[in-house]
Amino acid sequence: MKNKTFLKIIQPDDWHVHLREGDMMKVVTKFSSRINNRCVVMPNLETPITNSYLARQYKEHLSLITAGLNFTTLLPCYLIDSLDLEDFKLALKEDIFVGAKLYPINATTNSSFGISKIDNIFSALEILEELGKPLLVHGEKVREDINIFDREKYFIDEELQIIRNRYPSLKIILEHVSSEYGTDFVNENKNTAGTITPHHMMLTKKDFFYENSINPHHYCMPVVKEESDLIALRRCACSGNKKFFIGSDSAPHDIVNKETTSDIKPGIFSAPCSIELYAEIFNQENALEKLENFTSINGPEFYNLPINQDKIYIVKKEWIVEEFTIFNDIKVKNFYGGEKLKWKIEF
Ligand code: DOR
Ligand code: ZN
Repeated sequence: MKNKTFLKIIQPDDWHVHLREGDMMKVVTKFSSRINNRCVVMPNLETPITNSYLARQYKEHLSLITAGLNFTTLLPCYLIDSLDLEDFKLALKEDIFVGAKLYPINATTNSSFGISKIDNIFSALEILEELGKPLLVHGEKVREDINIFDREKYFIDEELQIIRNRYPSLKIILEHVSSEYGTDFVNENKNTAGTITPHHMMLTKKDFFYENSINPHHYCMPVVKEESDLIALRRCACSGNKKFFIGSDSAPHDIVNKETTSDIKPGIFSAPCSIELYAEIFNQENALEKLENFTSINGPEFYNLPINQDKIYIVKKEWIVEEFTIFNDIKVKNFYGGEKLKWKIEF
């Protein structure tokens, strides 16, 4: 496939994306909805989506923006220590929630309502296991004595392994796997999968730290890590391994919250070029024939959802990614903005 000049693949889905609210939602959703059939939309809003009422309300806002498009949003419930279990169970049964998302408390953007102790969600996990619905995990342990680069490893050892052992049939998705330790955990455990972002396969900590400072536009949670981690992630994605699938974690923040504050928000906005970034990575790894497995097959299979019918075309064509996404008062720096890519989706 080395000299391929165009790819025809089953339409992708994005199993982890942030579509936000208000004007931000209006401007970012179009990038995801014109490529994907389905998106798993993260519930970490300022008021996190912790019950069916908030879920219906959010889905209604999204449907106003995506009316007339063939585009489905799937929403996991944001788990909290004091979840209304009756409401949770019913909402899962009615497909208002696709599963549930575990944010450890204070691990990332809008996670202050997250879980302080995993014992607090055991009843919710039982329900998920019983209904065959997945647990989506932000896998980082935040504690003062734990180095930011080791958070994924500690979470796996001290929290996730306990969940894994206690609920053997529970489907677990370790989201935005960022380390070789994480890929090993996914590979070694049954009913366990992982999503991989383009940025964790393109950046290392050298791209994050520069000149005694950090590049806020390369700052995300989990943080990008070593070359050896990047290589492990590429190996898992590009080999066709069924346990790994697309999840861009495209997470827009206004430039104000990136460049002009000491409280820099983590998140990388890749939606304007995420499918092309994945194509670029698979091309570099001589694995274009496996791209479709990663973007369009492994995800629905793990979620037990139908594989999409439509096809998309990605052609070999140089183009420069727009530097910013701008709308009303919003200005977001696009990941890879101003840089050249060799693949482009053709509509
Ligand atoms: O970098 C990140 N940004 N990681 C997350 O887990 C959340 C996300 C966000 O919402 O901005
Ligand atoms: Zn995310």
